[in-house]
Amino acid sequence: MNFDPQIPDWGKSFSDSKLEQLLSYHNWLKTTGIKTGLISPKSEQFIWDEFIVHSLYFYKVIIDLNTTLSKVYDLGTGAGIPGIPVGIVSPEHVQLIDIKQTRIYELERFLNTNKQLNISALKTDAELLIQKEDNSIFLMRCYIPKDQLIDKLKKNMYTNKNSVFILSSKSDSQDLKRDLFHVKQEKFLINQDEYRFIDVITVK
Ligand SMILES: C[S@@+](CC[C@H](N)C(=O)[O-])C[C@H]1O[C@@H](n2cnc3c(N)ncnc32)[C@H](O)[C@@H]1O
Repeated sequence: MNFDPQIPDWGKSFSDSKLEQLLSYHNWLKTTGIKTGLISPKSEQFIWDEFIVHSLYFYKVIIDLNTTLSKVYDLGTGAGIPGIPVGIVSPEHVQLIDIKQTRIYELERFLNTNKQLNISALKTDAELLIQKEDNSIFLMRCYIPKDQLIDKLKKNMYTNKNSVFILSSKSDSQDLKRDLFHVKQEKFLINQDEYRFIDVITVK
């Protein structure tokens, strides 16, 4: 099958003009990303649909939030997923966070070579960062499962206020409402026929 860098209808308005930069990141993932072990070997199409298009939906959620929150953190970023695609299509600054220094060095090399000035990478423990950053948007793709995050919020382990957690989810789930936070699930296409889920948890 030929590689098709498709963008579903929901992402065209903010991604079409950034196709060149997204393709350059795709090329880095399939070469350096695989060679350095940031991602495991995958097909070109898988990398595009599951890593890049999936990441773009995190930005769609940010737009739809229509919020004044402008600090965006990608916690447990790994190879820059979803933070790099989000930073490419967004005018906002995105901070990539990972606890492994080797990953941060590789990400910095990519960001410097590609002059992505609105994206930076920092080695730190995301668990400590969440606790001290209010008024922020936290992106999490395959970092911690939703149930674990909700558990930590219920136990007041994360005391930050006015923040939004946007995280990848494995399946359909009920819409939960709590006094301290609100959970909403979004279902979206990553290509012509495959759906994925993202949960949006707002901490009041
Ligand atoms: C499963 S990978 C997911 C990477 C990427 N977000 C993705 O979707 O492909 C989880 C990442 O979280 C990082 N990580 C684990 N615990 C962390 C912590 N406490 N603080 C920051 N990063 C952490 C790991 O080093 C790893 O890169």
